[in-house]
Amino acid sequence: MAAEITRVGVVGLGTMGAGIAEVFARAGLNVVGVERDDAALAAGQGHLRSSTDRAVGRGKLTEGEQAELIGRVRFTTALDDLAGVDLVVEAVPERLDLKRELFGRLDAVVGPDAVLATNTSSLSVTAISAAVSRPERVVGLHFFNPAPVQALVEVVSTVVTSPGVVAAVTELARRLGKTPVACGDRAGFVTNALLFGYLNRAAVMVETGHAAREDIDAAMTAGCGYPMGPVALLDLIGLDTAHEILVTMYRQGGDRLHSPAPVLGQLVALGMLGRKTGRGFYDYA
Ligand code: CAA
Repeated sequence: MAAEITRVGVVGLGTMGAGIAEVFARAGLNVVGVERDDAALAAGQGHLRSSTDRAVGRGKLTEGEQAELIGRVRFTTALDDLAGVDLVVEAVPERLDLKRELFGRLDAVVGPDAVLATNTSSLSVTAISAAVSRPERVVGLHFFNPAPVQALVEVVSTVVTSPGVVAAVTELARRLGKTPVACGDRAGFVTNALLFGYLNRAAVMVETGHAAREDIDAAMTAGCGYPMGPVALLDLIGLDTAHEILVTMYRQGGDRLHSPAPVLGQLVALGMLGRKTGRGFYDYA
């Protein structure tokens, strides 16, 4: 039987990392949340506060429960504070060099039985795992945005990931109330491999004047029952993240569907990254 995971850490408290920390804390787990400096740590705390404020505002959480939830997250800039955890989930930006360097440092900090998980959306879990002395204890644990809401977690195994590690994180995902899906280490795993060609085509449609952004979104919500249209979803994911995912998938698979629509790179160059900066395809000001 797989050892139960009870002590967890999250490194990187951006949109995804803060959401993942919230998921753990909601399930009653104590979380060590790590960021690189005080400003990023404060931003991560802000994410957790505003996300749980929304739940309080809707009467889903009392202020006392919110305080308890936030109190379960220990915010720190010291990676050494992860020494006692059973699992670390890495959620730093989608750059292989950054992730490999971090995994090398984590390898030296956490105990020999700890599991090292990456929330990467499209990078190779295998390439990340090659940076540590225990690649069999490395797994992909891919959450979806917004992490507190979306039920899916992709559990990604490399050719050397231990079945015990897969069983332990799958059991954890269920304890968090999520739906785990197992897959191999292929570009985009299951969901992004299917989703990103569609999102990219929607960006091309905006760019070429095929249809207006509102009409593209209305077509997919009203016509196909999607909760959100593709243009709005790109803004939710973040155009920088979406662009990085497409670049990686195009490089790995060579499918023209994944060759990023130029407008994505242009909006990123302008700092218009979607909801998180107040402007992307839509204006949120
Ligand atoms: N954080 C926490 N909770 C949030 C939230 C957030 N950012 N956004 C919404 N919620 C919660 C709300 O509080 C609300 O909760 P309750 O039902 O408990 O009251 C619930 O979600 C619904 O929210 P709203 O009523 O405000 O809005 P909605 O019904 O229009 O749903 C949505 C919003 C959940 C974002 C929905 O439109 C949706 O599911 N969209 C699709 C999102 C999607 O496809 N995500 C995957 C992106 S791909 C990805 O993440 C992979 C990758 O690697 C990039």
